[in-house]
Amino acid sequence: MNNKSESDKPSQDEFFYSHTVDVSVSKTSMPENENNPEIIKELIQDELLLDGNARQNLATFCQTFHEKQVHELMDLSISKNMIDKDEYPQTTEIEMRCVKILAELWNSKNAIGTSTIGSSEACMLGGLAMLYRWRDKMKAMGKDSSKPNMVCGPVQVCWHKFALYWDVELREVPMEVDCLHISPKSMLEYVDENTIGVVTTFGLTFTGKYEPVKELADALDKLEEESGLDIDLHVDAASGGFLAPFCAPDLLWDFRIPRVKSISASGHKYGLAPLGSGWALWRERKDLPDRLIFHVNYLGGDMSVFQLNFSRPAGQVISQYYLFLRLGMEGYRKIHEYCYYVSVFLGKELDKIGIFKILYSGDANDGIPCVTWTLKDESECSFNLYDFAEKLLDKGWQVPAYSLPKNAEEIVVQRIVVRRGFSIEMAELLIKDVISTIDYFKENKFSIDESHKKLSGFIHN
Ligand SMILES: Cc1ncc(COP(=O)(O)O)c(C=O)c1O
Repeated sequence: MNNKSESDKPSQDEFFYSHTVDVSVSKTSMPENENNPEIIKELIQDELLLDGNARQNLATFCQTFHEKQVHELMDLSISKNMIDKDEYPQTTEIEMRCVKILAELWNSKNAIGTSTIGSSEACMLGGLAMLYRWRDKMKAMGKDSSKPNMVCGPVQVCWHKFALYWDVELREVPMEVDCLHISPKSMLEYVDENTIGVVTTFGLTFTGKYEPVKELADALDKLEEESGLDIDLHVDAASGGFLAPFCAPDLLWDFRIPRVKSISASGHKYGLAPLGSGWALWRERKDLPDRLIFHVNYLGGDMSVFQLNFSRPAGQVISQYYLFLRLGMEGYRKIHEYCYYVSVFLGKELDKIGIFKILYSGDANDGIPCVTWTLKDESECSFNLYDFAEKLLDKGWQVPAYSLPKNAEEIVVQRIVVRRGFSIEMAELLIKDVISTIDYFKENKFSIDESHKKLSGFIHN
């Protein structure tokens, strides 16, 4: 950090500069000397002002609102390492209580599981267990196990990573314009004896809707009866796993279905915990092959460890436990039902505008609290949804526009994920801004930008 006179003040492109004290520090190289903590914090804090406002980020599924007590518990546990089970036995006990609570929520008496850093790690673990179970099965039958494949609908990118990293062929059943998820019929066309399992998404990233887990399971049961082919199901319940137990308890998607061998979910989405919280559960001890588990016995007993990372923060697990106890069934139900209420409101208001075709608007039995829409073919707008998303950003609203995956790429959609902290009052303000953005395009004779044309692949004009 240098004391600078006005004349030799460095360019702000290369240096942070504090206005409270006349000092600057390089942005990209390690300073030679120590610096004042308050000044450095202020410099970084100022720069972070340029980030979007998390509460107006309607793209993310992740929690952006936290109670004061969660902040305090996170602070309290800042130095606790989740993996250090002998040093923090009580944190381990809390993790296991969370697994028990989740097993009960997902209707199992015997499920085992672990916390993870998010759904991606949880999916990776669920996938690995499927792969190893399948290998064991093939080996026992004396069959070749060198060409594993995994069958799924339109999955989140973590499954593409899983397939690439572990050399599993990903058979992603393409969407159809009139069916935006995997169906029992399409699934059956893709499975064979090399299928390690079917992954079904309970809360699709692209539309927010639930895939029909029970129907898929029934079709796989029938397949087994007819052909002997026994294929497991993993439910990627990143969002739905923390919604359906409270808002659609009769919907069959979880361990009540015998074919469901594992479930993954994000604590930091509708589990309401801070970022860095996920969960993976297996139906029974035998569904998690023992050779994937590392056993530690520091506590005198047998502590199983099965995660990709070793060190990881404990605060998220502790906060998750706090939320379970603090909110209970009633609290989670209240918060999530309010989210559904707001998403239904948004769906109705967007529909009234007339140019949008609502694909989904938040029904607790059908998906997560989110609204997904596209432009009506007959809307005759001078803009597309990419332009619309960009213009809405002027008001701070982050509402992503994207094209659907393979086979339905021509459909460009926009999606709002309604989370805790997004009130009906904020939704009303958003609708006002949506209407004024449409007016802006009408008044300014906007013509679609070439780059956006390319991006959308579908022009509404
Ligand atoms: C269905 C689904 N699976 C997995 C993930 C990955 O979750 P995470 O961000 O917790 O790693 C997401 C994230 O949005 C998701 O929607």
